[in-house]
Amino acid sequence: MIRFDAVSKNYPNGTTAVDELSLELAEGGITVLVGPSGCGKTTTLRMINRMVEPTAGTVSLRGRDIREVHAPELRRGIGYVIQHAGLFPHRTILDNIATVPLLLGWSRKKARARAAELLELVGLPSEMAKRYPNQLSGGQQQRVGVARALGADPPVLLMDEPFSAVDPIVRAELQAEFIRLQKELHKTIVFVTHDIDEAIKLGDNIAVFRTGGKLAQFDTPERLLAHPADDFVAGFVGQDRGIRRLSFVKAAEVPLRDGPVLPETSPVARARTVDEPWVLVVDEARRPLGWAAVAGLPDTGTLADAPLTPLGHTFSLEGDSARAALDAALLSPSRLAVGVDAQGAVVGVADAYELSAVMAAAEAVAAEAVAAEAAAGDAGADAPGGGER
Ligand SMILES: Nc1ncnc2c1ncn2[C@@H]1O[C@H](COP(=O)(O)OP(=O)(O)OP(=O)(O)O)[C@@H](O)[C@H]1O
Ligand SMILES: [Mg+2]
Repeated sequence: MIRFDAVSKNYPNGTTAVDELSLELAEGGITVLVGPSGCGKTTTLRMINRMVEPTAGTVSLRGRDIREVHAPELRRGIGYVIQHAGLFPHRTILDNIATVPLLLGWSRKKARARAAELLELVGLPSEMAKRYPNQLSGGQQQRVGVARALGADPPVLLMDEPFSAVDPIVRAELQAEFIRLQKELHKTIVFVTHDIDEAIKLGDNIAVFRTGGKLAQFDTPERLLAHPADDFVAGFVGQDRGIRRLSFVKAAEVPLRDGPVLPETSPVARARTVDEPWVLVVDEARRPLGWAAVAGLPDTGTLADAPLTPLGHTFSLEGDSARAALDAALLSPSRLAVGVDAQGAVVGVADAYELSAVMAAAEAVAAEAVAAEAAAGDAGADAPGGGER
């Protein structure tokens, strides 16, 4: 879709902003450009819409060298979102969003109708249409920035640190909203950030740059965490990449055992025969109520009379990842994570050690995929993802 062939950008003062970049960005996916400050992310992004012209190499869009396309025409198909949204302060929110459609010569009525539609799409109430940018919070302004970029429904969206200027909570909201939006819109998005967590959360593919405008690695988030190309990438993705990788393993793949699970109607004597320090007490629908310490059980009665320690949290076999499962184990008083089904009923338990086995299994699957990819490559097909390995 978007292709860089040996693209460099050198400035007259001797700075190499981008150094012989070759990269192919998939259609309909989110590619994240990440790296330390000054590594050439913004320059790379701006070479896509010709705000910056390369000194060497070729950028092409859907197979066409972008130098052959008149810049205004090129930009009509490419939305652009920047940090702090960059809204026009003296125009209302609605008029800000209607900017591109009006430039394209749409009637005011049609442009405004489109803008109202976009306001709703990015999750803002229609009352905000008449306000001015300074009457909105930073996070709301950022949503307007996204709506404005989507004005002419461009197939490509360039986003330069769009969520960096807001606090972590708003940022997480914007990210979640962005993921939802992309599921609906399937744009080809190039997203710049210097935050590796954001890159891993949002990217289908991630290009890690090092200082000097050199591409260090281009890969899926999962493979970046599993197989960083060198020490620079390993350092950049951080010390806890082992734990992060668990995010890519579905909780459904976690090996569970039955564990010490008893209904609250069980006599306490029954819990003592289990030979475990903790028993998980469940209701009639097998929903977990809490952990009972066997040493602290009353002499008689049922588990309904026993003091219970809260679970910490359970993990869902339907939607959660192995990371949530590991977290559940670490927070659990018994050190056992409790896996539940869609109805919230206990399916089984696993401790942190047992959970780590899932990583070895995922490793084997990944190794198989790499081998299959290599075999396909030998057969003459292009490896998916492309770029440097
Ligand atoms: N017009 C210019 N003239 C000279 N050097 C420039 C110019 N524009 C950018 N640079 C340099 O090119 C390099 C790459 O800049 P770029 O803005 O692409 O970095 P970045 O990765 O986006 O950084 P940040 O994370 O800080 O936004 C930097 O060293 C920068 O100083
Ligand atoms: Mg930048």
